[in-house]
Order: sequence, then structure tokens, then C-alpha cells
Amino acid sequence: MELISVRINDFLHYVGVNDRDTHLFENLWPLENGVSYNSYLINAEKTALLDTVKITKVSDFTAKLRAALGDKNLDYLVIHHMEPDHSGAVSTIRELYPDVQIVGNKRTIQYLEEFYGITENILEVKDGETLDLGDRSLTFYTTPMVHWPESMVSYEPKSKILFSQDAFGGFGALDGTIFDDEINLDFYHSETRRYFSNIVGKFSKQVQSALKKLAGLEISMVCPVHGPIWRSHPEKIIELYDKWSRYEVEEGVIIVYGSMYGNTQRMAEVIARELAVQGISNIKVFDVSKTHESYILSEIWRYKGLILGSCTYNNYMFPLMTKLVNILDMNKIENHVLGVFGSYSWSGGAVKALKEFGEKGKYDMIPEVVEAKCAACDEDIIGLRNIARTMAHKLKEDRLTELTDLLDN
Ligand code: FEO
Repeated sequence: MELISVRINDFLHYVGVNDRDTHLFENLWPLENGVSYNSYLINAEKTALLDTVKITKVSDFTAKLRAALGDKNLDYLVIHHMEPDHSGAVSTIRELYPDVQIVGNKRTIQYLEEFYGITENILEVKDGETLDLGDRSLTFYTTPMVHWPESMVSYEPKSKILFSQDAFGGFGALDGTIFDDEINLDFYHSETRRYFSNIVGKFSKQVQSALKKLAGLEISMVCPVHGPIWRSHPEKIIELYDKWSRYEVEEGVIIVYGSMYGNTQRMAEVIARELAVQGISNIKVFDVSKTHESYILSEIWRYKGLILGSCTYNNYMFPLMTKLVNILDMNKIENHVLGVFGSYSWSGGAVKALKEFGEKGKYDMIPEVVEAKCAACDEDIIGLRNIARTMAHKLKEDRLTELTDLLDN
């Protein structure tokens, strides 16, 4: 069966593939809705393939590429990012098109040898350099740590298309629809935020540097290596990445608890109810044993309030809470208010560990802390309500600031 590529315009084809088989991206993050590995073919006077796909999808990918190339040869293979979900098929492309020149920066070239033993027929490009493809061209901009050190994007000046590699990408296979004007935006915005928070968010400062570097470019279309192509409103996805990488948050509270027999869960329910009483409407409660941290992290990235509660397990936090806290620590979350609570049966440990985690991070800590022995007593319930009230108060202060800013402007 011939697999057809999607024609984007008169010189550009989409030759990417969907991965609906892999359960975990990077063997870590759930792919309930799959993921796409996007690759593009520029068919100008010279031909250039922009990135490849994960090796498990190589046969569909090369079939699409052959169909899009027709009887032309492949002149260049541009590697914007070496992570193997995009470079997995590099050796296959070299075998199919032995004369192809592989284009990358100095760091890409090192990785090419270290990952695939490829050392020949390579063209090194530097930041700001342009590759002439005849009637089209590509100008390269290095974007280190978005998502790896060698990451770079390219820009086709005549069409104003940005090939952005991982930046502006998202989870979710492309279900026939590949452009932003064809898709369910709510679904892809959510899956794009999950991708951002799971994969790129740790490098938010570098995302900000990349956005500043690219700010002078007029962009008509964003072609990332995962998720939809943003052709109708490219500014929307750029705005979202800007917002997320500045840790701009919405009013709301995420409560996550680790509980073995329900006592810590009941404490979470008290806090959640009091937040509602205090007029906070975006409240989401997660059982850390039930919801994968990929989804919890994405929600935490969205909302300003975070409340973590844990039972004590072997003198420390509940193991799955430890896992979540390590992920938060790794991501260096900013601009969040944090409250903590927990329980123990003989010797404590969970609340102490949660406090230490909060104090070493960049959190605005709520001073009230509740540590219940076995089950929350009346005094603990008052304390839990106080955590909720302080959280609500801090969030409402932001409402006032926003209102004042609005009136001043
Ligand atoms: Fe999609 Fe960082 O690889």
C-alpha cells in the first residue's frame, strides 16, 4: 500500500508519522493519545529532508518520503535535534540516499558520530548561516537546551516558515488533521502543555532566550517535530510557549495527596472544600497513586496554588509523593504558592520532608502546616482550613493586583 505524504504548499511536504504503539514517551511519559514524529521535505531546486523519525516507524516514513520525492534525489538531510525520536532513521536515509549531505551544527556532528558512527559527507552550519536550496533557503538559529544542547531551528525566509524542532511541539497523534485550523484546539492545547511541562519546561529560561532570538522574524507558519502544524495562527502557540516558560499561571489550586487508607485523603477533602467556600473555583484534587505525574505536572504548571499532602511511609514521604516531588524539584517550578500537610502513625517524616522540599525551592510557602497523628482531630481540621484560607487570600491578592493594573492602564 502506498502511503501518501501531505502537501503543505508548492514546495513543502509533510512526511511525518504517527506513533500509536509506544506507551511511554522517553519511556517515562504516558502516550494515551499517541504522538507524531514530524518530518518535512523541501522540494525546491535542491531537496532537503528536515529531521527523521523514531526507528520503529522507519518503513512508513521512507515510503512517504519516496512518494513525495518522486524521481528526485535527496540532496540534504537537516538535523535540527539529535534525540533519537527524530534522528532514529538517519542511518537508513544515508543507506537509501548515499550522496545525501547531512546538515548540522558542531554539536550535532559530534552526536552523529557518537550515536550512529557517521563521520562523512556532513555539512556544518553555524548560528545565523544560510543553506541555499536554489529557489528556497534555510537560515539556522541555534536554540541550545530547547531541548538538547545541539537543538537548532531553521527559517525559510521567502515563505516565512519556521521549522522549530521540539519547540512548539505537543503530545497527541495527528488523527488525519495536521493543521491548527483542522484540529480540536482544546485537546491539542492540553496535550501541548503536558508536552511542554514534561519535556521542555525544565529549560524554560532557555526557551525564553530562544524566543528573544527569534523575536525579529516574521513567522507565517510553525512546523514543529511533534503535534500540529500551526499555519493559521502561529502566534497562538508562540504566545503559549512564552506564557508557560515565564511561569505565568492562572488562579486555581492543585491538591495532590498520597494516602494509604484514606486519612490523608480526608485532609485533602477538607482543604478543597474550604477553598471552594473561600471563592476559588479552579480546584483539582489528585491521588498521586492514581494519576500519572505527567498529568499532575501539567496541571501544576497551569495553576498558581499547589498543596501537597502525604502520609508517612518508612519515616519519609509516601514513595509516589517522593517521585512527584523529585520531578517538581527537577523542573524548578517558579511563581507558585505551596502548602503542605500530612499524617503519621508512630514517627513522623512526611511533613518534614515536604517542608524541606518547599523551602529549598522557589515557592511562596504557606506558614501553616498540619501534621495529623493517625487521623485528623478537630484542631487539625482548623489548621487545614487555615491552609486553605491563606491560599485563597494569596490568590485573591493577585486578583486585586490585576484589577489595579487594569485600572492604571
Ligand atoms: Fe522530540 Fe527532544 O525530542
